[in-house]
Amino acid sequence: MAKCPKIVITGASGFIAKNLRKYLSKQNVDLISISRSDFKKLNFESKIISKNYNEKNLLQKIKNSDVLIHLVGIGKQSVKADYDMINTEFTKHIVKISKKSKIKKIIYFSGLGVSPNTSLGYFISKYNAEKQIIDSGLDYTIFRPSYIVGKDDLFTKYLKKQIKNGEIKIPGSGAYSIQPIHVTDVIKVIFEAVTEMKFNNKIIDLVGPNYITFEKYVKLFSKGTKTKIRKINLEDAYHDAIINSKSDFGIDDLNILIGNFKGNHEKLKKISNLKFQSMIDLLESGRLL
Ligand SMILES: NC(=O)c1ccc[n+]([C@@H]2O[C@H](COP(=O)([O-])OP(=O)(O)OC[C@H]3O[C@@H](n4cnc5c(N)ncnc54)[C@H](OP(=O)(O)O)[C@@H]3O)[C@@H](O)[C@H]2O)c1
Repeated sequence: MAKCPKIVITGASGFIAKNLRKYLSKQNVDLISISRSDFKKLNFESKIISKNYNEKNLLQKIKNSDVLIHLVGIGKQSVKADYDMINTEFTKHIVKISKKSKIKKIIYFSGLGVSPNTSLGYFISKYNAEKQIIDSGLDYTIFRPSYIVGKDDLFTKYLKKQIKNGEIKIPGSGAYSIQPIHVTDVIKVIFEAVTEMKFNNKIIDLVGPNYITFEKYVKLFSKGTKTKIRKINLEDAYHDAIINSKSDFGIDDLNILIGNFKGNHEKLKKISNLKFQSMIDLLESGRLL
């Protein structure tokens, strides 16, 4: 492997970023991490705190880094931050800064289900962000992830909270499927995408080996905990998502779940040469609890 490149990470306090920074720091990789708020700096890491990633503040500090991993993104909108603003326009800004600072490659996290034919606002914003990156002329790897799970992701934390309360709610039938991937596998794939040319200028589904129904996932997740599983009316779940900004499932969480999106795991396995964790084994082992 060639000398490890100098890496910039945006959205440093997020779930994937935190796991990635820990891993890269352990590998002695030179890292510049950017966040809107203060965070604890790791070994081999420099930190930048920037509310709006303003060019003046950033250019000099990230100049001549090799790869930028763009992990800023939202999956729920508000008046203050909508999809177009954060997922698309912010990416456009990051592409511009990357070009000015002579960064050679961008790694971007889009979403499984993004396609030119989509009609969902969330996916459209991610599609438009992908386009900004593809059209930039920089090298890129675009990942389209399904649910990335670990001990501290939102989805896992949500299920654990429900187990504590004794009941997990499934919106609708639960017969729709998901294709989760473990965060440690994701981090290894990102590291390969940073260091290996074969990932350049590709769009790759970031999905695990098992495509399983939501009901099965929840049953396996809560195995041995005596948790009741209750199916709730889908209309009620959507109603709650529409009128309550703090609802357990946001509108697009429901849209994505029910979308039944399936990715190409074989392609990911082939390009990465990694052995991916079986989600079923992981759930059965209780290691996510
Ligand atoms: N986790 C998954 O299962 C999954 C699946 C599909 C796609 N993705 C995509 O992967 C990326 C990272 O996901 P994640 O799970 O790590 O998400 P996350 O934990 O929500 O982190 C996203 C980060 O984006 C930054 N951010 C949010 N709103 C912002 C705003 N208004 N202005 C500037 N920065 C803002 C924040 O970083 P700071 O607080 O450090 O500023 C936040 O921590 C996102 O684009 C997400 O859509 C994730």
